[in-house]
Amino acid sequence: MSRIVVTGGAGRLGRSLVAGLAARGHEVVSFDRLPSEAPELVAVEQVAIDLMDAAATASALSDARADAVVHLAAIAVPFSAPEDVIMRTNTGLAVSVLGGAVTAGIRKVVAASSPTVLGYGAPTGWVPDRFPLDEDTPPLPWNAYALSKLIIEQSLRMLQRQTGDDVRFAAFRPCYVIAPEEWAGAVTQQGHTVRDRLDDPALSAPAVFNYVDARDVAAFTDTLLEALPHIPNAETFFVAADDALAREPLADLVPQFFPGTDEVAAALTGTTSAFSNAKAKRLLGWSPAHHWRAELASADDRQDVPA
Ligand SMILES: NC(=O)c1ccc[n+]([C@@H]2O[C@H](COP(=O)([O-])OP(=O)(O)OC[C@H]3O[C@@H](n4cnc5c(N)ncnc54)[C@H](O)[C@@H]3O)[C@@H](O)[C@H]2O)c1
Repeated sequence: MSRIVVTGGAGRLGRSLVAGLAARGHEVVSFDRLPSEAPELVAVEQVAIDLMDAAATASALSDARADAVVHLAAIAVPFSAPEDVIMRTNTGLAVSVLGGAVTAGIRKVVAASSPTVLGYGAPTGWVPDRFPLDEDTPPLPWNAYALSKLIIEQSLRMLQRQTGDDVRFAAFRPCYVIAPEEWAGAVTQQGHTVRDRLDDPALSAPAVFNYVDARDVAAFTDTLLEALPHIPNAETFFVAADDALAREPLADLVPQFFPGTDEVAAALTGTTSAFSNAKAKRLLGWSPAHHWRAELASADDRQDVPA
């Protein structure tokens, strides 16, 4: 059992992560702007704080006496605020939280990055050197959100250069996160349902048809925190489902939305995802347990059960 601070614990991913880590026996403290009444957080210690205030953050992290920090707090959607605000906020939060965690003597420091660092959707075009995309694919951010996430990954490496291996760091890039209630029809981050995303590939194309179940992100994070002392320091991991969020093979769909990718996308046959989760499987022994076909089928079964 560890004591874990989750920043942004009241957010979309944060709530599932807090619940998942607590269910695995950890003592979780959520740091967010305001206390939340979400059911996942009722039994959890909450600290209301503006994490942009670096001095207050360092002091609260020190008071928390935590073994680990998982940093999620951010502006989480590209172009949801002016570019300068996203840049200042996400990088400012990283310096405040990640630096504050090291100052507070916390020995495990993990931060959420994003697959968008790879640069898909750039108005000037995007043709990766190969599919599936993995941690060796060169980042080519084209907006402030993606660049801020790359800076978060680099901030962890910067801190590791300062502290050496006494503190263990890692960044993870969760794919499009689907919370459990969203399989049953609640709207996802972009304001439509999972079924809408499957029925209209144009909705899922901006994420190159990636997704991951929030419970799998919680299991991943727990596994990562446990493994941190035993794996190379300051690594980055994709956290992706095994399959693509699409009804057709991506070899057909990807070239429709990303001109010029016909040749490289030919590898994406069957249900193959554009994003590889092989590194997390290899280094951590983690595998996603939730897949959209089974989740939607069981959501349908539940609706068929008479009340
Ligand atoms: N949801 C996804 O599909 C997805 C995919 C890739 C990466 N991510 C990353 O995962 C993290 C969580 O995403 P999410 O979807 O849960 O976002 P979210 O917007 O639902 O939650 C972010 C939380 O951070 C908090 N926060 C922001 N600024 C703060 C501040 N100054 N002080 C205190 N709290 C502050 C917000 O109040 C909010 O509760 C983000 O870093 C995001 O970039 C999410």
